[in-house]
Amino acid sequence: MQDTQGTNLDPWYGHYAERTAGLSASEVRALFAVASRPEVVSLAGGMPYVSALPQQLIERAALRAATDRAAVALQYGSGQGVPRLREQILEVMALEGIHGSVDDVVVTTGSQHALELLAKLFLDPGDVIIAEGPSYVTAITVFRSFQGEVVHVPMDDQGMNPQALRETIERVRAAGKRIKFLYTIPSFQNPTGVTLSWERRVEILEIARTSGILVLEDNPYGLLHFEQAPPPAMRSIDSEGVVYLGTFSKTLAPGLRVGWAIAPHAIREKLVLANEAAVLSPSSFSQIVISEYLDTADWKGQISTFRDVYRERRDAMLGALSDYLPSMTWTRPAGGFYVWLTMPEHLDSKAMLPRAVKELVAYTPGTAFYADGDGRRNMRLSFCYPQPDFIREGIRRLSTVINGELALLGEFSQTAPLPVQPVERDVLPPYAG
Ligand SMILES: Cc1ncc(COP(=O)(O)O)c(C=O)c1O
Repeated sequence: MQDTQGTNLDPWYGHYAERTAGLSASEVRALFAVASRPEVVSLAGGMPYVSALPQQLIERAALRAATDRAAVALQYGSGQGVPRLREQILEVMALEGIHGSVDDVVVTTGSQHALELLAKLFLDPGDVIIAEGPSYVTAITVFRSFQGEVVHVPMDDQGMNPQALRETIERVRAAGKRIKFLYTIPSFQNPTGVTLSWERRVEILEIARTSGILVLEDNPYGLLHFEQAPPPAMRSIDSEGVVYLGTFSKTLAPGLRVGWAIAPHAIREKLVLANEAAVLSPSSFSQIVISEYLDTADWKGQISTFRDVYRERRDAMLGALSDYLPSMTWTRPAGGFYVWLTMPEHLDSKAMLPRAVKELVAYTPGTAFYADGDGRRNMRLSFCYPQPDFIREGIRRLSTVINGELALLGEFSQTAPLPVQPVERDVLPPYAG
């Protein structure tokens, strides 16, 4: 129970709902403000390179939405989304092996909002969500904001480990906890870039089915492959046990804030009601702009252009890592936006970040992607936004920081350790927790 006394800083402290305890700004947020200065090479964010979109195509679609189609685009719409756009979403989904009916699709305000709605529909305090370790930072935040507990399952270069999943389910249930769903990003995962193999997709779905666990498949990056396409979506194998989330954020533009969920009938009904309760209807204007774009532009050609842009950047990052940090290990994504770097034991990516920003390079510390404090030796490096030359320079700067840390560790390990002074918990400064 929170104390309802306010503080000098926040007179309403103590009035917030208990579930907001999970909603705290990360310690690295302030640093990211500095990292957005132009002299810093930011390998931290996941911003798509929207400059690769032909401006006149978007202009034409927006103009149509504001003129000929204004009666619909400027009006409230259906809580399930514009029917024509839902048909077009099915055309996009067919590229991932998913075939369904327009009735199965619910348009949302980005896939982030679909995550929020599903968390709202399924989570009671203390419920468990099983997720890859590591997993998408803002999904963890959403699940926590509904007082869910995220339990990670380790992954390797083929994705989530099925045997570890079985053991985790058993362990969580033996502890008397309820598992509400299995959250997975099977293709070009955020943050590792790893893709779940076909065999494991089938095996994990079978484990989920026999254990009575709903699968939440989040797939923003599946169409952004650099070599061959990833295996078909899990939803294409099991339409009853999987809720699938898609988005136009990475293949078109995140500023439009349009995503979708494809869900089994009963869940879809509840999703529409939750969507209406939250936003009445997703933005009609954005939906019409996208629908016009899909009707008039070569959208498949545009996705190919994005693939070419990101492939070149991925290659620049992998090449620079081999040149400047050959003793580290990292993933080799075949699509998407991210590389996951593992440093030697004893290095701490969160503690190192201020020094990196001082050297004018930024990344996201690995701890952001775990609910349990793991990930200190890791960092997520995004190659989606900076130009290839900047990526190379960013990795060079990063190498001076990491090598500096290693040299320092080498020096300290030669001297006798200082005695550790015991500290009283309540004399720790507030930021130390
Ligand atoms: C795995 C994952 N899910 C969901 C989202 C949210 O995307 P949207 O812009 O559709 O809300 C992102 C954005 O980076 C993501 O990486």
